[in-house]
Amino acid sequence: MTIATLDKKSFVVIKLDTFINKIYILCPKGANILDIIKTEKLTKKFDGFTAVDNISFSVKKGEIFGFLGPNGAGKTTTIKMLITLLNPTSGSAQVADYDILKNRDKVRKNIGVVFQDPALDTELTGRENLDFHARMYGLSRETRKERIDDVLNLVDLDNKKNEYVKNYSGGMKRRLEIARGLMHFPTVLFLDEPTLGLDSQTRRAIWDYIRKMNKDEDTTIFLTTHYMDEADYLCDRIGIIDQGKILVIDSTENLKNSIGNDVITLSCSDLDKLVIRLKKESWVKKVKQHDSFLTIGVERGEEKIPKIFEIAQSQNIKITSISVGKPTLDDVFLYFTGRSIRDQEVAIPQKEVLSLSPRRA
Ligand SMILES: Nc1ncnc2c1ncn2[C@@H]1O[C@H](COP(=O)(O)OP(=O)(O)OP(=O)(O)O)[C@@H](O)[C@H]1O
Ligand SMILES: [Mg+2]
Repeated sequence: MTIATLDKKSFVVIKLDTFINKIYILCPKGANILDIIKTEKLTKKFDGFTAVDNISFSVKKGEIFGFLGPNGAGKTTTIKMLITLLNPTSGSAQVADYDILKNRDKVRKNIGVVFQDPALDTELTGRENLDFHARMYGLSRETRKERIDDVLNLVDLDNKKNEYVKNYSGGMKRRLEIARGLMHFPTVLFLDEPTLGLDSQTRRAIWDYIRKMNKDEDTTIFLTTHYMDEADYLCDRIGIIDQGKILVIDSTENLKNSIGNDVITLSCSDLDKLVIRLKKESWVKKVKQHDSFLTIGVERGEEKIPKIFEIAQSQNIKITSISVGKPTLDDVFLYFTGRSIRDQEVAIPQKEVLSLSPRRA
């Protein structure tokens, strides 16, 4: 096998610096071997309350990774530890190969952050906001000028760059925040609830920008969201977090497949009895009891409905409602957490300004 015969579109070259030499590895595209974020038993307690509970996971270079969870799950707290704004109570993490406690400045130089809470100076223009940020990161005048044009282009705000931010719409402000997060060429961009409170059209547009920067700039994206459709559309892999614990991590496709090709949802007069009976059936892949209904993962759902009616009848159980559908991320979330994320309140945060300038050496 020679390198010349390889299809260049299918392979990437990864360069590793070592003490002795430079090693080049050829690996299939998409099969990124480098973990850009790694956590090991990361934990944060506030006065005895455990907000993040012993989480260990990794994010691969180049992927869009989603942290999905309800209000108070621990998403922002995890991000704050990874971006060095909060010290963990125990455990460790590395971002871009730098330890979040031992190499804070290096971590900060390698990341961009868009906070859940708005943090723009509304009395400055869009361009001035970006310029201020770039100066804090020590970018030269020429690089600043070029980069401001590039990132504004990426989020379609070049025609608004001289407008005061106080006159921007909510969606424009979010786009400017994303552009600002990208100013200093970060390896990893953290987006905390990037589309919270925006209308569906603006959310769509922001999704496209996120995809574009992931592809065009090769930026690894770590995002948190409440929104299933957002996670489904954007993320290569998803971690579901609830009450500080990661319940499952996998690709969206695997997560959906893991609960069956079809999901049957039903209510009946005796949930406990029906669950016990259904668990004995070999064609039932997964069955989960919720407060007032069951979800059952099966193959070819339509064919299983008459069987379920038969079983229920033989047990004197009355089925009051039944439906079948393809599993969505909502079903996955419901399966792993026992409740629907739609039941959770989606709070719009109050303004809180956090500073994340790299400290001078
Ligand atoms: N500084 C703090 N002091 C005390 N408790 C905190 C602090 N920060 C967060 N918490 C608590 O930790 C838990 C996790 O909060 P966190 O902000 O990480 O949740 P989240 O998943 O980001 O929620 P949301 O979706 O509402 O943004 C919550 O119960 C919250 O009240
Ligand atoms: Mg949050």
